[in-house]
Amino acid sequence: MNSNLDPLQDPNANENGDAWYKIDPPNLPLLKCQLGEDAIEHIWELIDEAKAKEVEPLANQNLAGNIEKSLYLDDKDNYFFNTHLKNQVEEYVSQYSPLIQTSRNPFSTWRLYNLTLREFWVNFQNQMEFNPIHSHAGVLSFVIWLNIPTEYEDQEKIPFCASANTAAASDFNFVYTDIMGNIRPYTIKMGSDVENTMFVFPSLLNHQVYPFYLNDGKRISVSGNIYYDFSFDEEHRKGLESKM
Ligand SMILES: [Fe+2]
Repeated sequence: MNSNLDPLQDPNANENGDAWYKIDPPNLPLLKCQLGEDAIEHIWELIDEAKAKEVEPLANQNLAGNIEKSLYLDDKDNYFFNTHLKNQVEEYVSQYSPLIQTSRNPFSTWRLYNLTLREFWVNFQNQMEFNPIHSHAGVLSFVIWLNIPTEYEDQEKIPFCASANTAAASDFNFVYTDIMGNIRPYTIKMGSDVENTMFVFPSLLNHQVYPFYLNDGKRISVSGNIYYDFSFDEEHRKGLESKM
């Protein structure tokens, strides 16, 4: 065996004449983005505007989070979506739509790729508050972690975590079914190094946020749900009909 080559996926790794290949059945990926200054500045402005208005109803009543306050955001002129998300999420749908059940569109002869941001909100999470396992509406959803007042290494030292075989205080995780049919977490350990990071995921993917403890800071995150843009589809349909 050639020890420099992976015996499970490099056909030339084995010297006995056998060629081995690794097969990864298709699955949907998650996306991660370290947002730049332009995006972060814009989002903080939207949060300040939402706080200044603080219009009823608060977003809480439509959300799973067991947390003090959530406010809807208004992405003026669709700036954040158009500048920082649209290209990537439309490319995602373009590449992966055969795997996304909701993208199947058997009653039309074309597929929908254009997307639009609908629900858009900010969460202010205090210690001991949490977001139980839930999924979202839409095709793709995202969360941007803006402010994380704790470090997971410290949270895991809290006595009731330190004695556990799965310390989870302050964790954010996705919950999915693996190829064996087992339910598994994919965990993001939370700390200041996750600040300004956005995760994009299929809206139906379950996820949850565990509480943090012994810290008076606020964990601030922004989330949104992205849908197919049916208004585009209507224009597209008219365009096609006019050519018939
Ligand atoms: Fe969520």
